[in-house]
Parts: sequence; C-alpha cells; structure tokens
Amino acid sequence: MKIRINKKTIIKLVGVLVALFLLIQLIPNKRPAVTMDNPSDLIQNTKMPPQVARMIQTSCYDCHSMETKYPWYDKMAPATWLVYRDIRVGRRKLNFSDWTKLSTAEKLKALNHIGEEVGSGDMPFLPYAIIHKKARLNKEQRKIIVDWTKQYSKDLFYAN
Ligand code: HEC
Repeated sequence: MKIRINKKTIIKLVGVLVALFLLIQLIPNKRPAVTMDNPSDLIQNTKMPPQVARMIQTSCYDCHSMETKYPWYDKMAPATWLVYRDIRVGRRKLNFSDWTKLSTAEKLKALNHIGEEVGSGDMPFLPYAIIHKKARLNKEQRKIIVDWTKQYSKDLFYAN
C-alpha cells in the first residue's frame, strides 16, 4: 500500500490530533487544591537560612506543599495524568505546609529523608527538574541543604 502524504492528509491528521487533545481534556482528573495561607508552614515557622528557604521553596514546594504553582501546560491532559499524581503522592509523603503539626520524632525522620533524597540527587524529581530549570540543585546547593538538615536535627534533638 502506498501512503500518499499530501496537504489534505496532513490537514486531516492535524484535525484528528486536535480532536484527540480536546477529547482527553474531558477525562475527569481533579487538580490538587492550592492554599496560600498555611499557618503550619515550615518556612514561616522555622528560623532557617534564607538561602535554604528559597531553595526548598523553589525546588520542592510544587509537590511537597499546598502552594503548588501550576503552569498552563500542567493544567492540561496528558500532563495532568502524571503531574497531579506526583503532587498527591508527594504531599502525602511530605507536606511542608503541615510542618509544625509533626512531632519532633516525625520531623527528625523527615529531615533524615530530606538529607538522603537531596544528598543523593534523587530530589527534586528528575522529570520535574528537566522541565523546571530553576528547581535544579547543583552540588554546592545540595550540600547546603544537607548541612541544614543536620543542623536543624541537632537543634531539635537538644531542645528536647
Ligand atoms: C515533581 C514533584 C516533586 C518535587 C518537585 C519534589 N518531590 Fe520529593 N517526592 C515526590 C514524590 C512523587 C515522592 C514519592 C516518591 C516515591 O515514594 O516513590 C517524593 C518523595 C520524597 C521524599 C521521601 C518521603 C518519604 O517519606 O518517603 C522526600 C524526603 C522528598 N521527596 C523530598 C523532596 C525535596 C527535599 C524536594 C526538593 C529539593 C523534593 N522532594 C522535590 C515528588 C516531588
């Protein structure tokens, strides 16, 4: 069979793709809610170096807080299928907006995990870091965050 690619075929193909794109928007997928007023937030309630606060806010808050910023392309399928799930799971595992609700033991555990994930380069999540250049952390930045988790853990430990 010979497939002839002419103008008409291309127009038809584009039409089908556009129709498909519009159709998949109809598949229900609830966007995880955003709240900007979070009285239990980590950064608001903790004395931390401004540099660390800025890095965590930029690199982690989209998935690990209630203050997710959705760019327009993340509000559309098929991106929503992956993005919303990461946010739901990310918040469930670690939500910086609920930080002060954690017990000291839970904070220590979370800080230990943060140190591990950031130190090993596993977080921020790779597909996210590829798209969000600002969220990428270099070696020095990683070390600064890891050192902060250690210092904060010590402070928590001796305060109790
Ligand atoms: C694109 C979303 C996204 C971003 C951005 C992100 N994470 Fe995650 N994070 C996740 C998801 C999803 C999981 C759960 C992964 C799993 O368990 O397989 C996770 C897991 C974790 C865990 C493990 C929690 C546990 O109890 O197992 C820690 C710690 C963590 N992230 C810290 C961070 C830090 C620190 C940053 C910023 C430097 C960050 N993450 C950025 C999505 C994200």
